[in-house]
Amino acid sequence: MDFAGHSLPVRTVAESQSEMTELILPNDTNTLGNLLGGRLTYFIDLVGAMAAYRHARTHVVTASMDHIDFIAPVHVGDLLILKSSVNRAFNTSMEVGVKVWVENTIAGTHRHVASAYLTFVAVDSQGRRVPVPQLRPESEDEKRHFEDAGRRREQRQRELEHKRVSKPAETTMAGLVHPGRS
Ligand SMILES: CC(C)(COP(=O)(O)OP(=O)(O)OC[C@H]1O[C@@H](n2cnc3c(N)ncnc32)[C@H](O)[C@@H]1OP(=O)(O)O)[C@@H](O)C(=O)NCCC(=O)NCCS
Repeated sequence: MDFAGHSLPVRTVAESQSEMTELILPNDTNTLGNLLGGRLTYFIDLVGAMAAYRHARTHVVTASMDHIDFIAPVHVGDLLILKSSVNRAFNTSMEVGVKVWVENTIAGTHRHVASAYLTFVAVDSQGRRVPVPQLRPESEDEKRHFEDAGRRREQRQRELEHKRVSKPAETTMAGLVHPGRS
């Protein structure tokens, strides 16, 4: 149901799966000609948002990106292939998995270089959160990703709660607490 009481459709993983290919150019790299971590993170966010956007069919914002392992360097001239799928939809949020490969265009081989899980929240044109359609996993892999996403959400919620309890509500840029400021 959406906030207005209308029932929402149920969507499959295939309906929103997305893929992006990027040729790595000198502007994307550090002084050694390796892809910058920040640039790779940007590509991951972008391809993740594509799947979330297709699933929700409304605007989405990135709520979080779980830690990323940069498994192997990516060099200038490499072809980067990024694939994203919605693993699970919750109320207004969705977990999206992104996997990244480098293609050796001469040998025609692929090497896994990075993976990440991101959470996107669906919002309307005013930036207000809106419910998302539920996801129906079909294959065994999709069912496994669905179950795992539920466990990761619980872990994230525990971490968020821990931060809320242990962190002061307001800090200065230097990390100092504003005592008694209301
Ligand atoms: C993400 C955002 C919309 C969450 O809003 P909020 O008022 O804190 O909302 P809530 O705490 O009620 O949580 C809303 C949903 O987001 C999820 N969520 C919130 N923070 C999250 C986090 N850090 N990681 C994963 N999920 C998160 C909640 O689990 C909840 O999911 P559900 O509706 O499916 O149950 C808000 O923090 C925001 O607008 N952040 C900035 C987003 C942005 O600009 N991103 C681009 C980066 S520059």
